[in-house]
Amino acid sequence: MGDTTSQRSSAILETTPELPLFDLRLREQDLQAVAEVLRSGWLTMGPRTKAFEEAFAAQLGARHAVAVSSCTAALHLAYLAAGVGPGDEVIVPSFTFAATANAVLYCGATPVFAEIVSRERPSLDPEDVERRITPRTKAVCVVHYAGYPAAVDRLRELCDARGLQLIEDVAHAPSATLAGRKLGTWGLAGTFSFFSNKVLSVGEGGLLCTDSDEVAALARSRRSHAMTSGTWDRHEGRTDTYDVVGLGYNYRLDEPRSALLLSRLEHMEEDIARRRELSARYHRLLGEIPGLIVPFAGSDLADSSCYVMAVMLEREGLQAQVARRMREQGIQTSIFYPSIHRFSAYRERFPDLSLPITELASQTELTLPLFPHMSDADQDRVVDALAQALELEAGQ
Ligand SMILES: Cc1ncc(COP(=O)(O)O)c(C=O)c1O
Repeated sequence: MGDTTSQRSSAILETTPELPLFDLRLREQDLQAVAEVLRSGWLTMGPRTKAFEEAFAAQLGARHAVAVSSCTAALHLAYLAAGVGPGDEVIVPSFTFAATANAVLYCGATPVFAEIVSRERPSLDPEDVERRITPRTKAVCVVHYAGYPAAVDRLRELCDARGLQLIEDVAHAPSATLAGRKLGTWGLAGTFSFFSNKVLSVGEGGLLCTDSDEVAALARSRRSHAMTSGTWDRHEGRTDTYDVVGLGYNYRLDEPRSALLLSRLEHMEEDIARRRELSARYHRLLGEIPGLIVPFAGSDLADSSCYVMAVMLEREGLQAQVARRMREQGIQTSIFYPSIHRFSAYRERFPDLSLPITELASQTELTLPLFPHMSDADQDRVVDALAQALELEAGQ
């Protein structure tokens, strides 16, 4: 393992399967960057957060990057910046993590769930989005599922034509592109996640990017209780006092995580390059297994950040059994994602909503292990175990 540290070697995670879904490996320089902050004695948002924001914005090609405590917080601020409030509707996919829709509810607005295109292309369907627009629709939020670009160009045209704001949930897709343009820069704002299993992970953290000076100003203000100055400004003697000029939140990121992000950002492209290699190999090997659909097969992986490796079992009713057989082989799988509208809290709000393509995807999807230091042999184990599990289940 050399000069790195890994979750896999941690004694606290004794229950981790031999081959986990995701494994984080930090470099010695990452540990040093954090140790330096801890020794500095300044831990809340300050100069390292600013340095990280500048580096991230430059890499993305966006005018502004505002670091926050999570992607959920960034989504909340993005919806507020889009003017979303009580009585409004925001069109979102249901085939995503709950945060995409929850943040709409934080604004007192209603999420309107739209379909994905297909199991082969499980991204928001622009045609279904168009069908669901009403006079109350304020915004559309597109998710770049698994790191692969959704049809954000068509959604942009649609939103422009209908006077709607477009938000990109880019939690899965740092550095991914469509037509040479980075994801996250197509709409009013893009929201990134640095949660522990993400491409750029530090445990918890998020970021809102935007080209709009007004949106950036709103996000900067609201992430810290809409105070006119921060603790760092006062520490630096720039001002002694502050006013509170709106309803804000504590969505600040802290300095240890900013330092870790800054350090890890230097290697993000290298990590993504390895993810692409592994995903290309997965696509090739999995494409030969009968009974499987491989989403985004044939797409250009250079456009994707290859965040997770999703497969869909052609037949319904096998998901739990195949996952169980894989776990018995020491391989962790997951479901990205159960449909949001089928969760108890959402079913109460939308008891009659039916989204057949999304529901079928949720019932047949399995997410396979993928992380940059995974070996080809690890991958072969996953592919063989999956092929065997499917064969056994098909014979039942
Ligand atoms: C698509 C999507 N949106 C939003 C989030 C929320 O991110 P965070 O955990 O940083 O709040 C996630 C994270 O899991 C996600 O996958």
